Amino acid sequence: MKLTTKLLAATAIMSASAASAVELEVTHWWTSGGEAAAVGKFAEAWNATGNTWVDGAIAGSGGTARPIIISRILGGDPMGATQLNHGRQAEELIEAGMMLDLTDVAEAGGWKDIVNPSSLLDSCTLDGKIYCVPVNIHSAQWLWLSHDAYEKAGQPVPTDWNEFVASAPALTEAGIVPLAMGQQGWQQNLAFGAITIAVAGIDAWREVTVNKNADVARGPEYTAVFNAVADARELARESNVQDWNQATNMVITGMAGAQLMGDWAQGEFSVAEQVEGVDYSCLPGLGLNEILDTGGDAFYFPANDDPEITAAQKELAALLISPEVQVSFNLAKGSLPVRGDIDMASANGCMQKGLGILAEGGVLPSGDQSLSADTQTQIEDLMAEFWSGDMPAADAQARYADLIASAD
Ligand code: GAL
Repeated sequence: MKLTTKLLAATAIMSASAASAVELEVTHWWTSGGEAAAVGKFAEAWNATGNTWVDGAIAGSGGTARPIIISRILGGDPMGATQLNHGRQAEELIEAGMMLDLTDVAEAGGWKDIVNPSSLLDSCTLDGKIYCVPVNIHSAQWLWLSHDAYEKAGQPVPTDWNEFVASAPALTEAGIVPLAMGQQGWQQNLAFGAITIAVAGIDAWREVTVNKNADVARGPEYTAVFNAVADARELARESNVQDWNQATNMVITGMAGAQLMGDWAQGEFSVAEQVEGVDYSCLPGLGLNEILDTGGDAFYFPANDDPEITAAQKELAALLISPEVQVSFNLAKGSLPVRGDIDMASANGCMQKGLGILAEGGVLPSGDQSLSADTQTQIEDLMAEFWSGDMPAADAQARYADLIASAD
């Protein structure tokens, strides 16, 4: 392209976006310190285009936010864009024709060639059309450990889940809560899933969660899982916090030895200026089975009749997956980028471990990708009941296997 042509093209782009400067409300549930820092990167990039990011943060977890998001769309009060998790959470809205088709944006941006792993784009695709833009990979199978707590207890920092369990009495002795746990079903279910992969292994997990094999869920491998989760429940008895980031804060301040949480916890350690390997450690796959799931976040754009808004929605979709935004957002969020063609050299040790596992193809679908939103909610309810009371492990296993038997 000649310089004059380039300049003309640049002017045309600038005047087009200036002429169509649009305010878009974007809903999400990113309200912890690390999450707010990360979503700020999106807002910054969007505002720099001359458009305006109207922040629609919904306090609480995804479990609180999702019903609000969905009922607003169904009730005719749609936002410009919204976060949801990778997977099947928007399935019914897409089928009802309520979500914008982004296929043209995806084709123009070559998403099929850049999105890695391609399963993330599959999760956005229904009947060959693309309805969301994946923005990150977040995995749930991580154990976060406080060096301060282990120093106080006079113990080496564990290198896997079994060592962590063995170290728990020394932590208790030193007045430290072994396991920080927020009292919410999704967190307890996350811990259950992470322990499953560590204790029963990947094949058993896949058989149950992907193939919905209730016999394996009733079998001995899962008996070992439920026993391990019952032990973890005891280690978390003195943890009275609700939100996941309050539990992370217990690890940051050395009040707790460890937390089972997704890699978004990394954002909290960063905001607290803690250094991986010095102040805390992270063990993907709980140090036993180094594998990560490909959960995370995608943005959806509710359909509307205003062509100006539709154009702005498509512009935002393209921006969220652009190389610079992918780097700045994911470094703040603690998540892995969805494109393999960008430089993440400045990522810290935990993210480098995640990138290494991803490069070796050590990935699984997330529960949200394999199970319907209804099934996920039923399992989370069971986990909430199990973790907060004294339900015997065998009863929980039987009820879980029944849910798998009827899962869709
Ligand atoms: C997940 C989401 C993450 C993180 C976490 C806790 O659903 O994928 O981005 O924000 O919730 O809020």
